[in-house]
Amino acid sequence: MDLSAVILAAGKGTRMKSKLPKVLHQLLGRPMLSYSISAARSVSSTPPVVVIGYMAEEVRGAIGEGGVLYVVQEDQLGTGHAVSQAAPLLQGKADAILVTYGDMPLLRSETLRKMAEVHEKGKSPITMLTVKMDDTHGFGRVVRDRSGGVVRIVEEDHTTPEEWEIRELNAGVYIFDADWLWGHLPRLPLSPKGEYYLTDLVGMAADEGVPAIPMTVDASEEVIGINTRVHLAQAEKELRRRINERWMLSGVTIVDPDTTTIWPDARIGQDTVLYPNTYLQGETVIGEDCEIGPGTLIRDSAVGNGCQIRFSVIEGATIEDRVDIGPFAHLRKGAHLAQGVHMGNFGEVKNSYLGPGTKMGHFSYIGDATLGHDVNIGAGTITCNYDGERKNPTYIEDDVFIGSDTMLVAPVRVGEGSKTGAGSVVTRDIPPRSLAYGVPAKVKRPLE
Ligand code: UD1
Ligand code: CA
Repeated sequence: MDLSAVILAAGKGTRMKSKLPKVLHQLLGRPMLSYSISAARSVSSTPPVVVIGYMAEEVRGAIGEGGVLYVVQEDQLGTGHAVSQAAPLLQGKADAILVTYGDMPLLRSETLRKMAEVHEKGKSPITMLTVKMDDTHGFGRVVRDRSGGVVRIVEEDHTTPEEWEIRELNAGVYIFDADWLWGHLPRLPLSPKGEYYLTDLVGMAADEGVPAIPMTVDASEEVIGINTRVHLAQAEKELRRRINERWMLSGVTIVDPDTTTIWPDARIGQDTVLYPNTYLQGETVIGEDCEIGPGTLIRDSAVGNGCQIRFSVIEGATIEDRVDIGPFAHLRKGAHLAQGVHMGNFGEVKNSYLGPGTKMGHFSYIGDATLGHDVNIGAGTITCNYDGERKNPTYIEDDVFIGSDTMLVAPVRVGEGSKTGAGSVVTRDIPPRSLAYGVPAKVKRPLE
């Protein structure tokens, strides 16, 4: 069965009370619409068609042009009208059409795969996802006849008191036989509300003697549409739970899953322990046997094996094996700490390489610098890399000892094995194996 997907995302989402269209609100760093797109892609061989309308250009810009097609629904005349907008792109191109919503990010690929199987075996032009819940608010009700066949869907606003009580609800996810769908969409009547309801197709199929096949979703949260920021937070919590569970089952210890947030693209090695209030964001890779957190945010960074990082913020950094960071360290873009580096409290490193075994224990800023191996950075050391116009480089060669509170006024180089005295302001290069101190620092004598 060749299946194509249509994702409805033209609505404004008034109840979000936002300048942003609803489907662009983020869940774990991705717009909610991208979750619907991924799920649809997992069951279809062709790029899904996203029906956009409200702030269409913004939605398109944020989601991008890769692997999706867009169609603009100028006036939002209902779900049936929305699906019909995709006809010119899909007619004659697929045997079956999956319809889902852009505001249903918890819907699992497995559920869609199951639906596709049910549809393939079934003899109806419609397979529809239903959900049984006591909280019926906002859902169309599934009306069945005495023999249990689906007769139609009645929208909440149009129910009789008896229909209002029905607890079997229309999730809003369907698979249609493509030819049947394109043939019947133009026949949808205008509802009393002035909309074309996609749900009226279910009644048409019953009238033709081929009633829709309902498939009940296992977990009701999968079909919750996001309408408010309360729902947004609930959905993020559920996505977080799923991701954390997956990592725990693959060998990662998460001490407090409720306060640990792992974005979908992060990767974590076996026997790593994540302590509370830890965030792993973007394209982050953590090795094996690390201890991360508590209170740590790591974004778009690579961390090797056996590292310990506590109460720190790490962005765009590379950290090799057995590095020990924090508490209260900040690594920024281009920070590269080689194996065995120790970076203690209140340090900041930006666009710099710290060679193997180098130590900076306390209150230091290292920017645009290249440090060799086994360098010791004394407390309070600053690379003065910015002269108001340019960022200038600092080079500190192997085995250098930088005394406490040294200012290294870049561009400057401290030669291999040299030492600076406490409080030095280094404005000129220091040759290898010498001692320099003072303001400005002068070379006093060579070291043995
Ligand atoms: C719809 C169903 C209802 C079902 C419910 C499940 C209809 C008529 N009713 O109701 O049976 O229980 O979903 O959540 O289909 N959209 C467009 N263009 C439009 C109208 C809607 O793109 O012209 C999009 C919306 O942005 C949204 C989705 O379609 O993502 C659903 O629309 P919505 O108005 O929320 O439908 P409901 O009234 O909730
Ligand atoms: Ca809705």
